[in-house]
Amino acid sequence: MEKILEKALKYHKLSKEEIIELLKNNSINDKIFNAADNTRKKYVGDEIHLRALIEFSNICKRNCFYCGVRSANKNIERYRLSPNDIITLAQNAIERGYKTIVLQSAEDEYYTAEVLAKIIKEIKKNDVAVTLSIGERSFDEYKVMKDAGADRFLLRIETTDKELYKKLHPNMDFDNRVQCLKNLKKLGYETGTGCLVGLPNQTIESLADDILFFKELDADMVGLGPLIPHKDTPLKDFPANGFELSLKVMAITRLLMPDINIPATTAMETIHPNGRIIALQSGANVLMPNFTDELHRNQYEIYPGKKSIDYTKLEEGFKKIGRTISKSKGFREKTT
Ligand code: 5AD
Repeated sequence: MEKILEKALKYHKLSKEEIIELLKNNSINDKIFNAADNTRKKYVGDEIHLRALIEFSNICKRNCFYCGVRSANKNIERYRLSPNDIITLAQNAIERGYKTIVLQSAEDEYYTAEVLAKIIKEIKKNDVAVTLSIGERSFDEYKVMKDAGADRFLLRIETTDKELYKKLHPNMDFDNRVQCLKNLKKLGYETGTGCLVGLPNQTIESLADDILFFKELDADMVGLGPLIPHKDTPLKDFPANGFELSLKVMAITRLLMPDINIPATTAMETIHPNGRIIALQSGANVLMPNFTDELHRNQYEIYPGKKSIDYTKLEEGFKKIGRTISKSKGFREKTT
């Protein structure tokens, strides 16, 4: 175990078997988290990049088994924000000093690439980066939005276990999702992906494959977190016990991809009272505070109990763990 960790620290490369060994054996977890923290410090420093998250629509054409906004869920109010409302929320964040605006939504084709391009152009009149997280679209649509000024795109692969992917994502195609990620890279987006940890029948082997997939894709960002079962989904009775394992997948990802951006995800904070800080001390260097207005934020219920961030305490909390808030846009600075 110690030898594998040393190798990861030195070469940032491990075989699938070695990753499995680290994931399976819990005897040196603290050392793994510590090593990831040191790697984070050495490669991306003590600055935390804040990204303002705007959840602009929860109307979804998909029906993913774990997600509360799946189309089959009739128990939520659906909403769409107007372009003007989206821009106003972005403006609020920019006035507070945020340097990245993340536009996230369910898979809602109502917002065409052209409509989104207009919103992106308006936001890009300010000196900020724009990240999109709107799901699968065609190469041409991704291009329209890139040409409008979008800088980054988040599209989690969710799981690289094809069998499991098929079961959890009715009428979706794993290969198309991979193609989307390749298209995004080709178009010059900083590309983020990630996975869910603690899915039913998910194996340690497949989590090792997830990590290797991130590396193979050369993802610029990796966001991952534990499954939090939602009462209005088929996974409602499934246990929510993925915190420690998701932290480990994140830490190993940091060890193998030392210069990328890794968020301390909201799911980690939701499932564990101190999850955000623990993640920031186990490899994470990004935080995504929610800028959606309160009404719609609650309606964007992909999982229950979604934790928000108390801005007044944010900087204080960071100081205590020796971290500062970045004033830059926080692009990945490649070291290799
Ligand atoms: N628990 C945790 N994360 C979830 N996501 C969707 N549903 C859940 C859930 N029940 C994650 C998916 C998606 C991201 C926006 O939220 O990984 O990509």
